[in-house]
Amino acid sequence: MGKQILDQFDRPMQDLRVSVTDRCNFRCSYCMPKEVFGDDFPFLPKNELLSFEEIERIVQQFVHLGVKKVRITGGEPLMRRDLADLIQRLYDISGLEDIGLTTNAMLLNHHIHDLKRAGLKRLNISLDALTPELFKEMNGRGVGPEKILKNIDLAQGLGFEIKINMVVQKGVNDQEIIPMVNYFKDKGITLRFIEFMDVGNDNRWSFEKVVSKKEIINRLSEKFSLTPVERDYFGEVASRYSIGNSEVGFISSISESFCSTCTRIRLSSDGKLFNCLFATHGRDLKSPIRSGISNQELAELITNNWRARTDRYSDERHELKDVRQGKIGMSYIGG
Ligand code: GTP
Ligand code: 5AD
Ligand code: SF4
Ligand code: SF4
Repeated sequence: MGKQILDQFDRPMQDLRVSVTDRCNFRCSYCMPKEVFGDDFPFLPKNELLSFEEIERIVQQFVHLGVKKVRITGGEPLMRRDLADLIQRLYDISGLEDIGLTTNAMLLNHHIHDLKRAGLKRLNISLDALTPELFKEMNGRGVGPEKILKNIDLAQGLGFEIKINMVVQKGVNDQEIIPMVNYFKDKGITLRFIEFMDVGNDNRWSFEKVVSKKEIINRLSEKFSLTPVERDYFGEVASRYSIGNSEVGFISSISESFCSTCTRIRLSSDGKLFNCLFATHGRDLKSPIRSGISNQELAELITNNWRARTDRYSDERHELKDVRQGKIGMSYIGG
């Protein structure tokens, strides 16, 4: 067994999620509501973003400290120029076993060949509805689902392993659950239902709007036969079930929190480390890097940060039945 850094609850630091931009070409109401993220929203200026060299250097340190898996997120990561170059650099880091990209797939056709060339194999694609009018409204930009479905086919044809993320909101898109299952199970693509979460402070979240894993399973069981599948690895966020020749997954942060196995750390595009998706503060790595910190000092910062970690927000929400204020935004930290 390689090196493992443990936090205060003995959770190993295993996965790093790297946000490469806080911008997005969609305005999903549960993440970047239009009213808040308008034309005058103060997105990060370019010089505040970590360069690819800086990201590479930080990822290298994480890999030396035992991280094996990196996920690239945004905002919408494909809005970051030359993203495939970053992915190529990360693949060259010895010891890094897996890289994934979470995207809304809108721009995928423009980048898919570069991404493949860079070595990328896994894509998680957000899609909340198949009904055109509803999807257009949900993404806040009037983009129809056909465009996304076409890009999914394109990526699948090129051999990418794809998972679909669907955020389910009661009374908004829960009637799409069955059509989505029917569509993706025939393609052999795993569809994952994500319980609507109180990320950020602007998405008007309430318990009443959540469709729980249990409720979805009940609905699916009326039409399909579901068999639970063993978790692939410690810290996997989704619980999975086989359905025909395919699988569906559930990310049930609200009804069945999974903080006790949370091995994920997040790096924002402006170089702050966050120990939880629902954190209020991050640890700045950019300033020390730009003022000449050594690799050893950088590794110490990262190690001490994780060793002190006590975050378990979803468990706390569950226990207190209340939400925290002042959290970082989902589009800033990338899910
Ligand atoms: P793989 O397992 O590598 O495919 O990646 P993933 O499932 O971790 O990545 P993805 O970006 O697709 O995440 C899916 C959803 O799970 C997103 O909505 C995330 O916000 C949510 N999620 C991922 N990690 C966490 C976590 O640590 N806590 C909570 N509460 N939600 C998470
Ligand atoms: N609740 C649950 N999932 C969310 N995502 C964004 N905002 C929320 C929310 N409020 C998901 C997106 C995407 C992933 C990065 O995060 O659907 O798949
Ligand atoms: Fe953009 Fe993804 Fe947020 Fe939607 S969920 S606004 S696609 S970052
Ligand atoms: Fe991890 Fe925080 Fe999510 Fe719990 S709420 S699983 S600690 S990111």
